[in-house]
Amino acid sequence: MDFALTSEHELIREMAYKFGRQEVLPGIQERDREAKSDRKMLDKMGEAGILSVSIPQQYGGSGTDYISLGLVCEELERADTSARVVMSVHSGLHSLTLLQWGTEEQKRRWLPKLASGERIGAFGLTEPNAGSDAVNIKTTARKDGDSYVLNGEKTWISLADYADQFLVVTRLASAGDRANYAAFIVDRNLPGFHSKPIHGKLGVRAGNTGQIFFDDVRVGADCLIGDEGDGFKIAMSALDHGRYTVASGAVGIVVACLDACDAYATQRKVQGEEIGKKQLVQQMIANMVAGRDIGRLLYYQVGWMKNVGLRHTREVSMAKWQNCANAFKAANDAVEIHGAYGYCDEFPVERYLRNSRGAIIYEGTHEIHTLVQAEYELGYRADKPLKRTLPIWNDSSR
Ligand code: CAA
Repeated sequence: MDFALTSEHELIREMAYKFGRQEVLPGIQERDREAKSDRKMLDKMGEAGILSVSIPQQYGGSGTDYISLGLVCEELERADTSARVVMSVHSGLHSLTLLQWGTEEQKRRWLPKLASGERIGAFGLTEPNAGSDAVNIKTTARKDGDSYVLNGEKTWISLADYADQFLVVTRLASAGDRANYAAFIVDRNLPGFHSKPIHGKLGVRAGNTGQIFFDDVRVGADCLIGDEGDGFKIAMSALDHGRYTVASGAVGIVVACLDACDAYATQRKVQGEEIGKKQLVQQMIANMVAGRDIGRLLYYQVGWMKNVGLRHTREVSMAKWQNCANAFKAANDAVEIHGAYGYCDEFPVERYLRNSRGAIIYEGTHEIHTLVQAEYELGYRADKPLKRTLPIWNDSSR
């Protein structure tokens, strides 16, 4: 067992940390206050090579392993959740799912442009009446000659207004079981497609979230991912990748809370001494340290399982469930430590509290992951070998 990060990991972590300081943090207070997302950030992420992480070199990627993706997510979310969300939808839910399920031709067609940031990808599963109950989606795809005609809508779609293409999960028949789903890459320029932003979010205000609509959108059969009937499995395996980015990003919030609280608690004085000397404050700091260290172990394990090609649906659910809960607790305690200063955006901790709340809901609610873990333990749920897997990572497979 080897827990050491390699020198390449350290370089990637440092690169993402600097990107967060130089490109994400400047102006974040205003963008968050005014709920303004910055489309240029996606171009900068592409230029910095961030969107190429964990994509093999043969498809235009950097050839770095899957742990690297977690490290990038941690450092980006340490700056702001909106930057990590880009990694979740573009790299996790979209690019890695294409890497897992696409044909050789599809991977060569799309992955190089996704890795460079020339094209931005997003993911469409959730609908107004199908969130946790993903099996109940209503969007349909009707086969018509050499193409499919899509009708329906998706909601809570990160990058809805910015993405060039969406990995969309649909039904193939009106009444059906899990064998009746399909997944497609849908270009936003196709006639009948449009998007609309969602306003008034509690958190991640510097990020774009919206709805996407399909009104007789005709998609070529060469945009079907996997086979007809694979759609639900593709959706679930996309979530294996997305949840990994959310779990690793959540550690970044805990680290950001420690950054803020270490500085504040060793400077702010009450009754003539630093509040860091008060035991109740120390207890909250110690809990954050535990959240950071345990959170890293959980996501490093998942990254390693991805590297060696092991199915990790249970482990990634655990990492996402626990790390998101710990991030929210850390942010709540960080506000507590800052007292009244923590209640306004002069300090960043109230942003961490609002930003950490959403991740407890998206990509599987706290309740869904609780039930999933109990079901594995009681033998009601077991993982079978997958039809298609991510490429195993090793130095020669870069
Ligand atoms: N990879 C590949 N295949 C998988 C899989 C995975 N990770 N997980 C399950 N499958 C397969 C199973 O093997 C099974 O195949 P068979 O029929 O051949 O046996 C099939 O898929 C059905 O699996 P389950 O029996 O586990 O399905 P379920 O109905 O019991 O799943 C659930 C229940 C776990 C609650 C699932 O519905 C779920 O995770 N719900 C939450 C969905 C979610 O997280 N939604 C948020 C998406 S975020 C978003 O959309 C917004 C955005 O853009 C960011």
